[in-house]
Amino acid sequence: MATTKTRPRVVAVTGGAAGIGEAATLHLARGGDTVIALDRDPAALARLGAAAATEALAVETEQVDVSDDEQLAVAARTAGDRYGGVDVLVCAAGVQRYGTVDEMSVAEYDELMAVNLRGVFASCHHFIPQIRSRGGGSVVVVASVQAYAAQAGVVAYAASKGALVAMVKAMAVDHAAEGIRVNAVCPGSVDTPMLRWAAGRFACDRDPDDLVADWGRAHPIGRVATPAEVAQAIAYLAGPEASFITGADLRVDGGLTAALNVALPE
Ligand SMILES: NC(=O)c1ccc[n+]([C@@H]2O[C@H](COP(=O)([O-])OP(=O)(O)OC[C@H]3O[C@@H](n4cnc5c(N)ncnc54)[C@H](O)[C@@H]3O)[C@@H](O)[C@H]2O)c1
Repeated sequence: MATTKTRPRVVAVTGGAAGIGEAATLHLARGGDTVIALDRDPAALARLGAAAATEALAVETEQVDVSDDEQLAVAARTAGDRYGGVDVLVCAAGVQRYGTVDEMSVAEYDELMAVNLRGVFASCHHFIPQIRSRGGGSVVVVASVQAYAAQAGVVAYAASKGALVAMVKAMAVDHAAEGIRVNAVCPGSVDTPMLRWAAGRFACDRDPDDLVADWGRAHPIGRVATPAEVAQAIAYLAGPEASFITGADLRVDGGLTAALNVALPE
């Protein structure tokens, strides 16, 4: 069956040059996959390329903005020409913007959705035919715990992530019969450049490390995740060990969404 193919596989990772996407790129490449990292940030792509070269990993870097349909179309065609398609697509590109529905402009909402939601739709639109060309495979979408419950001030982000979980289920149903599995990972807080940017923004006169530690304590496991921990979950869902799993949303959240924050008195 397509999803139990043995390596080497060809993998495309959007947002593959930093944070969770970078960790997925390196984890999969270290396991023997050829990984095409697609990212809009040329400096991050150059850093990733250099890091991959020192380990002699099969990582290609390509500057692609997932909000640009034509750039995605070219990237998918290039993968088709070079490898006859891809086996796995990981959608990790995403952005965070803060504000309530009345504070945020509609333009900011559109900008976030163009990456977080439309960008995933467009990535799958162009790459699922490339997965079909290789006889099947899988897609892993990075959603968030904000699909289930929201912090204050993340209305657009939460909406994008909730919609991704629904989109993943719909795609899983549509493509199961052709051997293409589609799943989501839903992380809690993960120590990436995005989280550090948020900590810098909200720390005020505190040390951002203390704020990240506070966020970590909100998770029953007591800390935030490393990007590598999310990459391992992505690799599992992408791989043959998950051959009967499709349409799932796997929480990688240190117990965050399992907990009710109402303590009994000591
Ligand atoms: N860090 C967290 O705590 C956390 C938690 C849950 C979910 N997530 C999700 O995980 C994914 C990765 O987040 P992260 O924390 O690693 O973010 P990050 O900002 O650290 O890295 C994201 C990468 O995506 C790239 N990117 C952003 N917009 C892009 C676009 N339009 N086209 C191509 N590349 C683009 C960036 O250049 C960057 O390299 C996002 O979808 C995010 O919403 C993150």
